[in-house]
Amino acid sequence: FERGLLAGRHILINAGPTREAIDPVRYISNHSSGKMGFALAEAAAEAGARVTLVAGPVNLPTPARVQRVDVVSAQQMLDACLAALPADLFIASAAVADYRPDACAEQKLKKTPGSDDGMTLTLVRNPDILATLASHSERPGFCVGFAAETQDVLGYARDKLQRKNLDLIIANDVSQSGIGFNSDDNAVTLIDRDLTSTHLPQASKQKLARDLISRLATRLDRH
Ligand code: C5P
Repeated sequence: FERGLLAGRHILINAGPTREAIDPVRYISNHSSGKMGFALAEAAAEAGARVTLVAGPVNLPTPARVQRVDVVSAQQMLDACLAALPADLFIASAAVADYRPDACAEQKLKKTPGSDDGMTLTLVRNPDILATLASHSERPGFCVGFAAETQDVLGYARDKLQRKNLDLIIANDVSQSGIGFNSDDNAVTLIDRDLTSTHLPQASKQKLARDLISRLATRLDRH
């Protein structure tokens, strides 16, 4: 792992979940810990890059020499990522909520008195941050997505790579316990634009992050 590998490069990484407000006290979110994205930010900084890390709500310390921007919702995460452009490399590791409540109630929602009826929330689609940056006029030179799947992992990953106009997708099987969401370990398969795939077996997210960063540096140099 060479320290000057990414010298002079600006790497943009997003990480963690987003929170979509229902009312002043409630939200919709997911179990993303942000660990993989933070490990990537740390490794990219160690490799000499200038790193912007746009983080959703997570409980993690900011890696050394990383510029961290904290956000809550998907819309805020998109705005912060756009504001960080231009970038040589964008790694979208955030677990962005696909939907948000159509409006955030101004006051705390109350149960209907005397009724046991359920309630219905109307959700609207959130912007796709990765697809937006990958088709932007200031598109980062190299765009990398994550595909966390529970079935047909490689099939869905290839589809995302093409649909979102990515240079590389990192697929992981979140149905396997001990890897992926919230775990300290991960195991991934890289799929390049020409659909060649490279499997990186289970390792700590720190070790995997260093391996991924050096493989990405090679691709940036070839690009
Ligand atoms: O389509 P899916 O959500 O599975 O794609 C995962 C990839 O797309 C991840 O890299 C994730 O960060 C990104 N994504 C995004 N904005 C969304 C949904 C997903 O950037 N609204």
